[in-house]
Amino acid sequence: MMFKKLGQTGLKISRFVLGTMQMGWIVNEEDSHKLLDAALEAGINTIDTADIYSKWGDGSYPGKSEEIIGGWITDRGVREDIVLATKVRGDMSDRPNDAGLSRRHIMNAFEGSLGRLNTEWVDIYWSHWPDQDTPMEETLRAYTNLIESGAVHYIGASNHTAAEIVESLWVSDVNGLERYEAIQPSYSLARRRDFEKHLRPVIEKYGLGVTSYSPLGGGFLTGKYSKDKLPDSKRADTTKTRYFKDRNFRIVDTLKEVAAAHDASIPQIALAWVLTQNIVTAPIVGANSPEQLAENLKALELKLTDDDINRLNEVSDWVEMDDLAR
Ligand SMILES: NC(=O)c1ccc[n+]([C@@H]2O[C@H](COP(=O)([O-])OP(=O)(O)OC[C@H]3O[C@@H](n4cnc5c(N)ncnc54)[C@H](OP(=O)(O)O)[C@@H]3O)[C@@H](O)[C@H]2O)c1
Repeated sequence: MMFKKLGQTGLKISRFVLGTMQMGWIVNEEDSHKLLDAALEAGINTIDTADIYSKWGDGSYPGKSEEIIGGWITDRGVREDIVLATKVRGDMSDRPNDAGLSRRHIMNAFEGSLGRLNTEWVDIYWSHWPDQDTPMEETLRAYTNLIESGAVHYIGASNHTAAEIVESLWVSDVNGLERYEAIQPSYSLARRRDFEKHLRPVIEKYGLGVTSYSPLGGGFLTGKYSKDKLPDSKRADTTKTRYFKDRNFRIVDTLKEVAAAHDASIPQIALAWVLTQNIVTAPIVGANSPEQLAENLKALELKLTDDDINRLNEVSDWVEMDDLAR
């Protein structure tokens, strides 16, 4: 497994991060533990979760993914072996102060996450998405206090626009507060534009790390979706709503051709393409089983040719669409 430094920090994270949004929702506790074992065994040292995972499953609730991970960490005694990332922002209950990025909620939510994860510290604490109701200075000051206490090592911003990132860096700078060291956007062959057009220049200029999510478009870029038939997946309807576009089906057709030339699978090529983007420190892979994970890990060994990359870039190009819309 290769490790990369997260942005300008000294933190080394594996080239794949393990996503855990499926734990407690699609994958039960026992199978989640098997998945976590398989990831650690393969050399993945970084685990991404969130306090609200996975509140949308039948019989699930916010915090269940963290509980499952906490149980695994305790059972296996592996806290020192892993880099643990969790997030705050989403609604943990109907109470008005049980959501957002206020000082009150951050402090409360953080204690909850520590308890469920059964740990004394979180390596990367993410703002899951922006909170327009709270001044950035309040949020960043709360995070700075957590970092100074030693319980958080780094902070990051997920689902923020380039303007919000730049504003936050300015607020940190002028107030002497800790800054977001990394961002977590959606990024895949089917979702390139926002990242490449708006976020990339900011990442390059300010040296931010990137752990991007949904590299397989929630399963769409595995080739198992067709216009008239959905796969047997609890996420199929959401994936359909987000990704069913003619252009995305053309991307899958090209992925299929490139995969055949490499004797590889479609998801392996989709992941290998993300890995060619050096600006991404590590994509967060979502796998529902050790088998899916094993298949996806082989992407790390694939070498796409310039011709493969050009073909994939061309079929997923957004610059031309932008020009046409001008
Ligand atoms: N910050 C945020 O707002 C945010 C948002 C979303 C996700 N995330 C993080 O990113 C992680 C990954 O996101 P994601 O789950 O959307 O990633 P993804 O890689 O785009 O999709 C993963 C899904 O694809 C399917 N899949 C994966 N490997 C496969 C294979 N080899 N063959 C066939 N199907 C396969 C599985 O679904 P099925 O088998 O059910 O089809 C799996 O749940 C999450 O767990 C979470 O940690 C963060």
